Amino acid sequence: MKVLRSIGEWRRFRAALTGGLGFVPTLGGLHAGHAALIQRAAADNDLAVVSLFLNPTQFNDPRDLASYPASLEDDLAYAEAQGAHAVLAPDREAIYVDGFRFKVEESPLSRELCGAHRPGHFSGVLTVVLKLLNLVKPDRAYFGEKDYQQLELIRGMAQAFFIDSEIVACPTVRDADGLALSSRNARLDAAGRALAPRLREALACPGPDGQVADALSRLGFDVDYVATRFGRRLAAASIGKGEGRVRLIDNIPLAMRPEATHHDSGP
Ligand code: PAJ
Repeated sequence: MKVLRSIGEWRRFRAALTGGLGFVPTLGGLHAGHAALIQRAAADNDLAVVSLFLNPTQFNDPRDLASYPASLEDDLAYAEAQGAHAVLAPDREAIYVDGFRFKVEESPLSRELCGAHRPGHFSGVLTVVLKLLNLVKPDRAYFGEKDYQQLELIRGMAQAFFIDSEIVACPTVRDADGLALSSRNARLDAAGRALAPRLREALACPGPDGQVADALSRLGFDVDYVATRFGRRLAAASIGKGEGRVRLIDNIPLAMRPEATHHDSGP
């Protein structure tokens, strides 16, 4: 597996490539959720490229950035084991060569749901994804449904800016108890880890979003939102206090809720 740390090196490497290229952008801290994307990219394309870039502009909370669990050495070994052919791991100065002068803005979706609780977050995500897509020039780029609002925004940006890469959505990978895999799960203590799967469980409950939010609050979650959008129920909620606070997000298709199953069967 080839590791490219500078933009110049990457550009020379890219220019010499032939065949279809699948791309999986990540923040690092790789886990089985990322593995599913990398394996899919390797299966669908001649080459799979992973980027490891802890993008500072999408972290509205500096403590979240500082405590993000990612190790370059572990991530390189993991990406290689999943079938990645190359990893792009640039430093911050290389990606923000403009000194943060330019950014992608979207409205209204980037200001709703997670965007309402993380000001500037989606602008940071869209900006770095546009930079990475322009550098990597993939035939297909793979994103997880776990971050559903992010996926919708990236799809919209790709259309709006006539990006040639196909944006491919991949299903959420979960632990056996239903908790969606996330790099941040490593920061949960034993009590938090025991509570965390209740988020996914609550999303599947019948009843209005407000009732689900109340149920989560009673369980001990600090709820940012529970909302129905894109044919799904989505939620963000935190567990713990102060330094130990961990924010979780999840979503499931409406068809997975009991009363929706009833509607689906039709008259
Ligand atoms: P990161 O959180 O590292 O996730 C990288 C990709 O893996 C995203 O497309 C995300 O949706 C997907 N992913 C994470 N956990 C998953 C799970 N449990 N199941 C399926 N897919 C999962 O999302 C980002 O990084 C960044 O915002 C990024 C797009 C790289 C821009 O910086």
